[in-house]
Amino acid sequence: MKSENLESVARKLVAPGKGILAADESLPTIEKRLKSIGVPSTEQNRRTYRETLFTTAGAGEFISGVILFDETIRQKTRDGRTFVKALEQEGIIPGIKVDKGTKPMANFPGEKITEGLDGLRERLAEYRQLGARFAKWRAVISIGEKIPTRGCIETNAELLARYAALSQEANLVPIVEPEVLMDGSHTIKRHFEVTEQTLGIVFHSLSEHRVVLEAMLLKPNMVLSGKDCPQQASVQEVAAATLRCMKRVVPAAVPGLVFLSGGQTDLQATEHLNAMNRLDHVPWELSFSFGRALQAPVLKAWKGDPTNVADAQRAFHHRARCNSKARFGKYTEEMEAEKAVA
Ligand code: 13P
Repeated sequence: MKSENLESVARKLVAPGKGILAADESLPTIEKRLKSIGVPSTEQNRRTYRETLFTTAGAGEFISGVILFDETIRQKTRDGRTFVKALEQEGIIPGIKVDKGTKPMANFPGEKITEGLDGLRERLAEYRQLGARFAKWRAVISIGEKIPTRGCIETNAELLARYAALSQEANLVPIVEPEVLMDGSHTIKRHFEVTEQTLGIVFHSLSEHRVVLEAMLLKPNMVLSGKDCPQQASVQEVAAATLRCMKRVVPAAVPGLVFLSGGQTDLQATEHLNAMNRLDHVPWELSFSFGRALQAPVLKAWKGDPTNVADAQRAFHHRARCNSKARFGKYTEEMEAEKAVA
């Protein structure tokens, strides 16, 4: 019964033409983003920025869910509605980041583990009560000389599986995010190998912990050339490599893949999603859960100035619409020009 309910939330999150906005930046990360446009990271500014995103009229046509941060799920709009309520009124499902960020892994130089399991059962119950319907946990795998190690991947996979099991117990759909970073000079071939190995180990742990695959979503990285690799793969190569990799290791029982953007430009992320949705048939919905790739143009348009709110919302609406089209493989470069007249 509970699992049926979770399955239906998971399917709604990957409904055709819709995807997720990741607006769950932790305090240090949102500070970095706001600083990039010269805005100090005060509680008030963070609230105003997020209100701009969440109250964009018509966003619910393209956005199925929003991932919130602990501070954000407790905040309200200027007219006194909780953000949870405001999102629900737009037909958007509220979710919550529940990990507590990454820390260096002891004895594993250059590698990280994600913290946040202590007290998680109680935190999940509170978030469910505050209106969250899904949760997210991000693990980070870095590529470098002699890394990642199997030890680091297995530890992160175990943490992801324990979080996912607790989330389903708390009636929240887990979004499982093992991000293999694109930072570095590695080739796309190496990114493919590490992503395949990581996802293989993650799904083994999920199964060991009896996680119901039909009631979760995977948030994977796309398979890309390292940022500093001199040989950059084309859009078609990225799309083909990503799907080839996913087909090898992601069970068909998972309803959808909601890709992260992970430092790609907003246009690249949309083009890659579009190209994947034009390729052959796959058993999962191919969707998005973008942070930077949805928000970069919004921050640029807003700049902390209240007179720019309408422009910022237009930028968000436009980016969300482009990604919605990409879900059908119907995004075109010409759509970028429509921005000016939207
Ligand atoms: P990016 O799309 O900016 O990678 O953010 C997605 C996210 O939620 C990272 O945890």
